[in-house]
Amino acid sequence: MSHRIGIVGASGYGGVELLRLLDTHPAMHAEVVAAHSQAGEPVADLFPNLPGDRTFDRIEVAALADLDLVFLATPHGPALELGRALYDAGTPVVDLSAAFRLSVEGFATWYGEPHPHPDLAAGDPAAATDVAYGLTEHARERIAGARLVANPGCYPTATLLALTPLAPLIEPGSVIVDAKSGTSGAGRAASDRLHFAHVHADLVAYGAPAHRHTGEVERWLPGELGPVSFTPHLVPMARGLLATCYATLRPDVGADQVQQALHEAYDDEAFVHVLAPGIFPHTKALAGSNGCQLSAVVDERTGRVVATAAIDNLGKGAAGQALQNANLLLGLEETTGLSAIGVYP
Ligand SMILES: NC(=O)c1ccc[n+]([C@@H]2O[C@H](COP(=O)([O-])OP(=O)(O)OC[C@H]3O[C@@H](n4cnc5c(N)ncnc54)[C@H](OP(=O)(O)O)[C@@H]3O)[C@@H](O)[C@H]2O)c1
Repeated sequence: MSHRIGIVGASGYGGVELLRLLDTHPAMHAEVVAAHSQAGEPVADLFPNLPGDRTFDRIEVAALADLDLVFLATPHGPALELGRALYDAGTPVVDLSAAFRLSVEGFATWYGEPHPHPDLAAGDPAAATDVAYGLTEHARERIAGARLVANPGCYPTATLLALTPLAPLIEPGSVIVDAKSGTSGAGRAASDRLHFAHVHADLVAYGAPAHRHTGEVERWLPGELGPVSFTPHLVPMARGLLATCYATLRPDVGADQVQQALHEAYDDEAFVHVLAPGIFPHTKALAGSNGCQLSAVVDERTGRVVATAAIDNLGKGAAGQALQNANLLLGLEETTGLSAIGVYP
């Protein structure tokens, strides 16, 4: 049986990556590929990797509600309304935006507006029990029983995969994250900041000290380890994200405990690979995959752990993890249609 799937925002980078993944998925097919300004336009005009004469559909809630599952890959504003409508219709949703990731209070703080649907705010203690934050490796059971999954942001995915197993070993207030992403992280829309002539051969920080993903990391890092310092950077590459996370270790915690925590968390995982200390992850090794490579070293001189995680921002950082979560929601093998191995070189 092939599940009937909708992608809203299929004309964006997250949406088109879902479309590419579903093309070879054995148990799902993209029945609706909806776009906003691009509705009616040929998919191949925007994305030459998807030749053919398919055109983008209009966003129609009734048609979406009839499907087996819908991915929302739009900005958080439209996702708030579409997520509400589909949840009320009983249609499973995996939302790639930030609409449902935080608590009500966190959403107001980081997005500057009250959350219109407090019961769907996954980060809120009062959220409905069938709403989940989708960091798959750390929330499998809740995701499998959910009707709405808030897929994590790209920077929080890499950061939380690196730091969640280490959380009991870390001093509160000591976490600093220095992260870098390729330009597809900013979506398809052109801007001066993302113009080739600006980005090429450049490296620049942005968003510090209050990038919105800071709030997501603080909410989902176990053990109330915040506040967290987080600075993202824009790197002249299309895909790929590297998070280098620094934290002070609690007294008497050594390198062995750090390695043990990472291996206990991930040795049985299909998509998260722990590299030996001193072997550092490459973003390019994950391109096009749902993999995450991470490694950690302990700096005995400063008492800090330095944990580095690489992902494809459109893979494990967006569409790949969304598909991993959708597999769980639909009762399929979690790895179906996904690979941990990137395109290399
Ligand atoms: N890019 C990443 O690496 C990444 C990673 C994790 C999460 N995310 C999140 O995933 C979502 C999509 O990101 P993206 O990078 O794919 O963005 P994008 O390339 O800018 O695409 C945005 C999509 O949303 C549609 N859209 C825009 N305004 C809309 C509206 N008012 N109503 C309905 N649809 C609308 C666009 O349709 P038209 O093009 O037809 O106008 C397009 O299909 C965002 O919430 C983003 O924060 C992105």
